[in-house]
Amino acid sequence: MKAVVFKDITNSDDIALIDIEKPKARKGWPLVKILGFGMNHSELVLRVNEIRADYIDKPIVPGIECVGVIEESLDDGFKTGDKVCSMMGGMGRNYNGSYEEYAILPINKLFHVHSDLDIKHLAAIPETFYTAWGSLFECLKLESKDALLVRGATSALGYASMQIAKALGCRVIGTTHKKEKMHFITDLGCEAILDSEGKIAGKIYANKVLELIGPKTLRDSLRCCYRGGIACNTGILGGEYFLNGFDPIKEIPNGVYLTGFFSNYPTQEAVDSLFKYIDEHNLKPFIGASYKFNDIKLAIKAQEKGIDGKIVVIM
Ligand SMILES: NC(=O)c1ccc[n+]([C@@H]2O[C@H](COP(=O)([O-])OP(=O)(O)OC[C@H]3O[C@@H](n4cnc5c(N)ncnc54)[C@H](OP(=O)(O)O)[C@@H]3O)[C@@H](O)[C@H]2O)c1
Repeated sequence: MKAVVFKDITNSDDIALIDIEKPKARKGWPLVKILGFGMNHSELVLRVNEIRADYIDKPIVPGIECVGVIEESLDDGFKTGDKVCSMMGGMGRNYNGSYEEYAILPINKLFHVHSDLDIKHLAAIPETFYTAWGSLFECLKLESKDALLVRGATSALGYASMQIAKALGCRVIGTTHKKEKMHFITDLGCEAILDSEGKIAGKIYANKVLELIGPKTLRDSLRCCYRGGIACNTGILGGEYFLNGFDPIKEIPNGVYLTGFFSNYPTQEAVDSLFKYIDEHNLKPFIGASYKFNDIKLAIKAQEKGIDGKIVVIM
């Protein structure tokens, strides 16, 4: 079967599909026929840098999410033909991920999917919408009366978060560092703020802040929060991964709460709630581009260049 395999830092020009052995189902690890997958910023980070980390099992097939059908299973909860999705939990880092035709995936990270959406739209959902869902409801405790500020709103995760919050009835404000992208935010019925300097505190306030730029702007985001508000750091788009010299006493304003979300622990319950919400509110993920698996190199090049919306790959 065909797969993308990384052994070391890999230039996008060197991406190629190679032949590897088709895996076999084993107890706890059903065999999934991949139907499609969304591409994520973290796979770009893996390819250009993280691949050298000790905790990455090399060679590795990348890809932290997929939708597919069970091809073969030795486990009661999964039978041939079941529609499933999987994400995170070591996928594409500690065991082979979705950039391949078939994958064996652990049952604790394999979820039944009940949705009539087509594969292209389904493929855009699992990781992005689950992360948005967890950040907004588990961490920010979002309610319809809230004003939500989404920092880095034109990422796939930003769009999904704005869509979910808007459907709930929140006031939603999104930031972008590119003036020409402001319309993507206003087209969703949200307010757009240009944030080219990473300094918007004092210009805008909200009681819930979703930080997708990360440590680069988190201090400023904390100062955008009303007293009693919550800021959740979920993204690292700004390319800074640590808050160096962070002084929590002085830099977290009194009465403001700081939290973070890590999408490593999805559950069937969360996946069910998420698809139900998407269905009830008729949400469609914003797909920037869709590629066939044979054109994976083009997909990776598009990701590198930067594309508006989620990139999906269909087998
Ligand atoms: N905590 C978790 O478990 C978790 C889970 C999923 C994703 N994430 C993180 O969430 C972030 C978004 O992920 P994604 O997959 O949705 O990303 P994505 O769709 O690949 O978005 C990347 C795009 O965001 C845009 N962007 C907006 N503001 C930016 C800024 N200030 N600096 C750099 N780029 C900016 C860039 O396009 P323009 O420059 O053209 O605007 C870039 O092409 C990433 O940092 C990712 O690692 C975290």
